[in-house]
Amino acid sequence: MSNPASTAGYAGAADTLASTYESIRFEDVHRDILHLIPAPHRDGMAGRALDIGAGTGRDAAALARRGFAVTAAEPTAELREHGQRLHAGLDIRWLDDALPDLAHLTASGESFNLVMLTAVWMHLDATERERAMAAVAPLVAPQGRLALSLRHGPVPEGRRMFDVSADEVIAAGAVHDLALLHQSQRGDMFDRGDVHWDLLVLERPA
Ligand SMILES: C[S@@+](CC[C@H](N)C(=O)[O-])C[C@H]1O[C@@H](n2cnc3c(N)ncnc32)[C@H](O)[C@@H]1O
Repeated sequence: MSNPASTAGYAGAADTLASTYESIRFEDVHRDILHLIPAPHRDGMAGRALDIGAGTGRDAAALARRGFAVTAAEPTAELREHGQRLHAGLDIRWLDDALPDLAHLTASGESFNLVMLTAVWMHLDATERERAMAAVAPLVAPQGRLALSLRHGPVPEGRRMFDVSADEVIAAGAVHDLALLHQSQRGDMFDRGDVHWDLLVLERPA
Protein backbone atom coordinates (compact mmCIF):
# COMPACT_ATOMS: atom_id res chain seq x y z
CA MET A 1 0.00 0.00 0.00
CA SER A 2 1.43 3.44 -0.85
CA ASN A 3 1.74 5.87 2.03
CA PRO A 4 -1.15 8.33 2.41
CA ALA A 5 -0.28 12.08 2.45
CA SER A 6 -1.12 12.15 6.17
CA THR A 7 2.03 10.12 6.93
CA ALA A 8 4.36 12.79 5.47
CA GLY A 9 7.59 13.06 7.45
CA TYR A 10 7.32 9.76 9.33
CA ALA A 11 9.20 7.21 7.20
CA GLY A 12 12.43 9.20 6.98
CA ALA A 13 12.46 9.95 10.71
CA ALA A 14 11.43 6.47 11.86
CA ASP A 15 14.70 5.55 13.59
CA THR A 16 14.74 8.70 15.71
CA LEU A 17 11.01 8.54 16.35
CA ALA A 18 11.26 4.94 17.53
CA SER A 19 13.46 5.98 20.47
CA THR A 20 11.36 9.08 21.13
CA TYR A 21 8.03 7.25 21.17
CA GLU A 22 9.37 4.39 23.27
CA SER A 23 10.94 6.77 25.82
CA ILE A 24 7.57 7.59 27.38
CA ARG A 25 5.19 5.25 29.19
CA PHE A 26 1.61 4.35 28.23
CA GLU A 27 0.59 5.02 31.85
CA ASP A 28 1.95 8.59 31.66
CA VAL A 29 0.69 9.40 28.15
CA HIS A 30 -2.81 8.23 29.07
CA ARG A 31 -2.79 9.02 32.80
CA ASP A 32 -5.95 11.18 32.58
CA ILE A 33 -8.04 8.43 30.97
CA LEU A 34 -6.48 5.29 32.49
CA HIS A 35 -9.58 4.73 34.62
CA LEU A 36 -11.64 4.55 31.41
CA ILE A 37 -9.54 1.86 29.73
CA PRO A 38 -11.74 -1.19 30.20
CA ALA A 39 -10.17 -4.14 31.97
CA PRO A 40 -10.21 -7.00 29.47
CA HIS A 41 -12.33 -10.03 30.31
CA ARG A 42 -14.19 -8.22 33.12
CA ASP A 43 -17.98 -8.36 33.31
CA GLY A 44 -18.07 -10.46 30.17
CA MET A 45 -16.14 -7.77 28.26
CA ALA A 46 -13.93 -9.40 25.65
CA GLY A 47 -10.42 -8.06 25.47
CA ARG A 48 -9.93 -6.85 21.95
CA ALA A 49 -8.06 -3.59 21.41
CA LEU A 50 -7.20 -1.74 18.21
CA ASP A 51 -4.50 0.93 18.05
CA ILE A 52 -4.82 2.96 14.83
CA GLY A 53 -1.67 4.83 13.82
CA ALA A 54 0.18 2.69 16.34
CA GLY A 55 3.62 4.07 15.48
CA THR A 56 6.24 1.82 17.05
CA GLY A 57 3.72 0.05 19.26
CA ARG A 58 4.38 1.55 22.70
CA ASP A 59 0.66 1.57 23.51
CA ALA A 60 -0.10 -1.67 21.67
CA ALA A 61 2.54 -3.40 23.81
CA ALA A 62 1.17 -1.93 27.04
CA LEU A 63 -2.34 -3.07 26.12
CA ALA A 64 -1.07 -6.54 25.28
CA ARG A 65 0.63 -6.70 28.69
CA ARG A 66 -2.69 -5.68 30.28
CA GLY A 67 -4.26 -8.75 28.68
CA PHE A 68 -5.78 -7.40 25.49
CA ALA A 69 -5.50 -9.17 22.15
CA VAL A 70 -4.18 -6.21 20.21
CA THR A 71 -4.35 -5.19 16.58
CA ALA A 72 -1.92 -2.42 15.63
CA ALA A 73 -2.72 -0.63 12.36
CA GLU A 74 0.19 1.42 11.05
CA PRO A 75 0.66 2.51 7.42
CA THR A 76 4.29 3.67 7.74
CA ALA A 77 6.29 0.50 7.10
CA GLU A 78 9.44 1.88 8.77
CA LEU A 79 7.57 2.48 12.05
CA ARG A 80 5.71 -0.81 11.82
CA GLU A 81 8.99 -2.69 11.42
CA HIS A 82 10.42 -1.07 14.56
CA GLY A 83 7.26 -2.03 16.42
CA GLN A 84 7.37 -5.64 15.27
CA ARG A 85 11.00 -5.91 16.36
CA LEU A 86 10.71 -4.02 19.66
CA HIS A 87 7.58 -5.78 20.87
CA ALA A 88 8.06 -9.26 19.40
CA GLY A 89 6.55 -11.99 21.52
CA LEU A 90 3.51 -9.99 22.66
CA ASP A 91 -0.03 -10.63 21.44
CA ILE A 92 -0.01 -7.92 18.75
CA ARG A 93 -1.22 -8.40 15.19
CA TRP A 94 0.36 -5.73 12.97
CA LEU A 95 -1.60 -4.50 9.95
CA ASP A 96 -0.72 -2.21 7.07
CA ASP A 97 -4.00 -0.29 7.10
CA ALA A 98 -4.73 3.43 6.86
CA LEU A 99 -7.37 6.00 7.61
CA PRO A 100 -9.65 7.31 6.29
CA ASP A 101 -11.08 4.01 5.04
CA LEU A 102 -9.18 1.30 6.97
CA ALA A 103 -9.90 -1.01 4.04
CA HIS A 104 -8.62 -4.23 5.66
CA LEU A 105 -10.29 -3.77 9.04
CA THR A 106 -13.55 -2.62 7.48
CA ALA A 107 -13.63 -5.63 5.16
CA SER A 108 -12.96 -7.98 8.08
CA GLY A 109 -16.14 -6.91 9.91
CA GLU A 110 -14.33 -7.09 13.27
CA SER A 111 -15.14 -4.97 16.30
CA PHE A 112 -13.10 -4.00 19.34
CA ASN A 113 -13.75 -3.17 22.99
CA LEU A 114 -11.14 -0.43 22.92
CA VAL A 115 -9.98 1.63 19.93
CA MET A 116 -7.13 4.11 20.33
CA LEU A 117 -6.21 6.99 18.04
CA THR A 118 -3.30 8.63 19.81
CA ALA A 119 -1.81 11.66 18.03
CA VAL A 120 -3.17 10.64 14.64
CA TRP A 121 -6.51 12.34 13.85
CA MET A 122 -5.05 15.83 13.23
CA HIS A 123 -3.03 14.44 10.30
CA LEU A 124 -6.27 14.01 8.31
CA ASP A 125 -7.93 16.82 6.36
CA ALA A 126 -11.60 17.67 6.88
CA THR A 127 -12.91 15.36 4.16
CA GLU A 128 -10.74 12.49 5.38
CA ARG A 129 -11.86 13.04 8.98
CA GLU A 130 -15.50 12.70 8.00
CA ARG A 131 -14.81 9.48 6.10
CA ALA A 132 -12.55 8.23 8.87
CA MET A 133 -15.20 8.55 11.58
CA ALA A 134 -17.60 6.59 9.37
CA ALA A 135 -14.97 3.82 9.14
CA VAL A 136 -13.80 3.86 12.77
CA ALA A 137 -17.17 4.01 14.53
CA PRO A 138 -18.41 0.58 13.35
CA LEU A 139 -15.19 -0.95 14.70
CA VAL A 140 -16.21 0.03 18.25
CA ALA A 141 -18.20 -2.80 19.87
CA PRO A 142 -21.31 -2.13 21.99
CA GLN A 143 -20.08 -0.62 25.30
CA GLY A 144 -16.69 -0.25 23.64
CA ARG A 145 -14.65 2.95 23.87
CA LEU A 146 -12.75 5.14 21.45
CA ALA A 147 -9.88 7.11 23.02
CA LEU A 148 -8.46 9.88 20.90
CA SER A 149 -5.88 12.66 21.34
CA LEU A 150 -5.49 15.81 19.25
CA ARG A 151 -2.30 17.79 19.06
CA HIS A 152 -2.37 21.61 18.95
CA GLY A 153 0.62 23.84 18.22
CA PRO A 154 3.09 24.50 15.44
CA VAL A 155 3.31 21.94 12.63
CA PRO A 156 6.71 20.20 12.59
CA GLU A 157 8.60 20.70 9.33
CA GLY A 158 7.71 18.13 6.69
CA ARG A 159 4.55 16.91 8.46
CA ARG A 160 0.94 17.47 7.43
CA MET A 161 -1.25 18.58 10.35
CA PHE A 162 -4.48 20.49 10.89
CA ASP A 163 -5.84 22.26 13.96
CA VAL A 164 -8.82 20.03 14.73
CA SER A 165 -11.22 20.98 17.50
CA ALA A 166 -12.49 18.57 20.13
CA ASP A 167 -16.01 19.83 19.38
CA GLU A 168 -15.72 18.66 15.78
CA VAL A 169 -14.72 15.16 16.87
CA ILE A 170 -17.49 14.98 19.48
CA ALA A 171 -20.07 16.01 16.87
CA ALA A 172 -18.72 13.52 14.30
CA GLY A 173 -18.82 10.74 16.89
CA ALA A 174 -22.42 11.58 17.79
CA VAL A 175 -23.46 11.17 14.14
CA HIS A 176 -22.20 7.58 14.42
CA ASP A 177 -23.75 6.83 17.81
CA LEU A 178 -20.64 7.42 19.91
CA ALA A 179 -21.32 9.42 23.07
CA LEU A 180 -18.85 11.63 24.92
CA LEU A 181 -17.55 10.04 28.12
CA HIS A 182 -14.48 12.15 28.84
CA GLN A 183 -12.97 15.44 27.64
CA SER A 184 -9.84 17.13 29.03
CA GLN A 185 -6.72 19.01 27.99
CA ARG A 186 -3.14 18.42 28.92
CA GLY A 187 0.35 19.79 28.31
CA ASP A 188 2.93 18.03 26.20
CA MET A 189 4.67 14.82 27.29
CA PHE A 190 7.94 16.11 25.84
CA ASP A 191 7.66 19.49 27.58
CA ARG A 192 7.23 21.44 24.34
CA GLY A 193 5.73 24.63 25.75
CA ASP A 194 3.92 25.53 22.52
CA VAL A 195 2.20 22.13 22.19
CA HIS A 196 -0.92 21.01 24.04
CA TRP A 197 -3.41 18.19 23.63
CA ASP A 198 -7.13 17.49 23.75
CA LEU A 199 -8.08 14.09 25.15
CA LEU A 200 -11.42 12.51 24.33
CA VAL A 201 -13.08 9.21 25.15
CA LEU A 202 -16.28 8.31 23.29
CA GLU A 203 -18.44 5.29 24.06
CA ARG A 204 -20.90 3.18 22.07
CA PRO A 205 -24.04 2.42 24.06
CA ALA A 206 -24.88 -1.21 24.90
C1 LIG B 1 2.54 11.16 16.19
S1 LIG B 1 2.57 9.52 15.57
C2 LIG B 1 1.80 8.66 16.91
C3 LIG B 1 2.19 7.23 17.01
C4 LIG B 1 1.60 6.48 18.22
N1 LIG B 1 0.16 6.49 18.22
C5 LIG B 1 2.13 7.07 19.50
O1 LIG B 1 1.37 7.69 20.24
O2 LIG B 1 3.33 6.89 19.74
C6 LIG B 1 1.33 9.52 14.31
C7 LIG B 1 1.14 8.18 13.65
O3 LIG B 1 0.01 8.24 12.78
C8 LIG B 1 0.31 7.48 11.65
N2 LIG B 1 -0.59 7.89 10.57
C9 LIG B 1 -0.50 8.98 9.78
N3 LIG B 1 -1.48 8.97 8.84
C10 LIG B 1 -2.23 7.86 9.11
C11 LIG B 1 -3.36 7.30 8.48
N4 LIG B 1 -3.91 7.88 7.41
N5 LIG B 1 -3.88 6.15 8.98
C12 LIG B 1 -3.32 5.57 10.07
N6 LIG B 1 -2.21 6.05 10.70
C13 LIG B 1 -1.68 7.19 10.21
C14 LIG B 1 1.77 7.78 11.38
O4 LIG B 1 2.36 6.84 10.51
C15 LIG B 1 2.31 7.74 12.80
O5 LIG B 1 2.65 6.43 13.19
